[in-house]
Amino acid sequence: MPTEASIPAPRRAPFAGFLKHGLKPVVFALCLLPFAWLVYRTFNNQLGANPFETIIRYLGDWALRFLLIALAVTPLRIITGWLWVARLRRMLGLFAFAYVAIHVFAYVGEHAFNWSEIWGDIVKRTYITVGMAALTMLTPLAATSMDWVIRRMGGAAWRKLHLLVYPAAILGVIHYFLMIKAGYQQPLIYGVILAALFGVRLYKNYARRI
Ligand code: HEM
Repeated sequence: MPTEASIPAPRRAPFAGFLKHGLKPVVFALCLLPFAWLVYRTFNNQLGANPFETIIRYLGDWALRFLLIALAVTPLRIITGWLWVARLRRMLGLFAFAYVAIHVFAYVGEHAFNWSEIWGDIVKRTYITVGMAALTMLTPLAATSMDWVIRRMGGAAWRKLHLLVYPAAILGVIHYFLMIKAGYQQPLIYGVILAALFGVRLYKNYARRI
């Protein structure tokens, strides 16, 4: 009979310790870098002739990038089988929301908190209307991201609510398309990435059914 000493210890995956304890803080710090760079540029007068426009556009870009990165987690897990990436999903989603929120805060600041002017903009300019619709969809997702809320809601209801991230991301891309008058390359790239991420999920659901 094998003694306890003769049973080999289970082999730990390479980087298992890092994946368990170090990954989240590292990714957290990386997610802060775009914001830190913006703060640096602000304090060093590197925002160009129209600082508000620079800040709004920069944060808008990062908001959309983080939305796509958060949406890429599940397809990446499906393709690679890396279960550990799922642990980053909530944090990445919250960073996406944070960048959207500061993007909108900068827009409100540009309008000097003149709420009637802002309301006029929301009603008149389609890309702002679409952006607001995306923000409205993302807000309940951020508000329900805590463990105790998930427990209270129940997994099924929570998952159903969080499907809103897909229309929100689509509206984010449309918002970008609508605000520019020429050079559609950038929003097109975001749109193609979003479509590819949807594609992986749809394929996975389809493959599960057959
Ligand atoms: C999910 C929500 C949103 C996302 C992902 C998003 C993303 C973006 C992106 C990618 C840009 C273009 C950046 C560039 O030119 O490089 C942009 C621009 C802009 N967004 Fe948003 N946005 C969102 C919501 C909103 C909301 C709610 C507002 C206002 C109420 C807003 C106001 C603006 C403005 C004013 C611009 C710049 C327009 C210009 O400079 O002509 N966005 N946004």
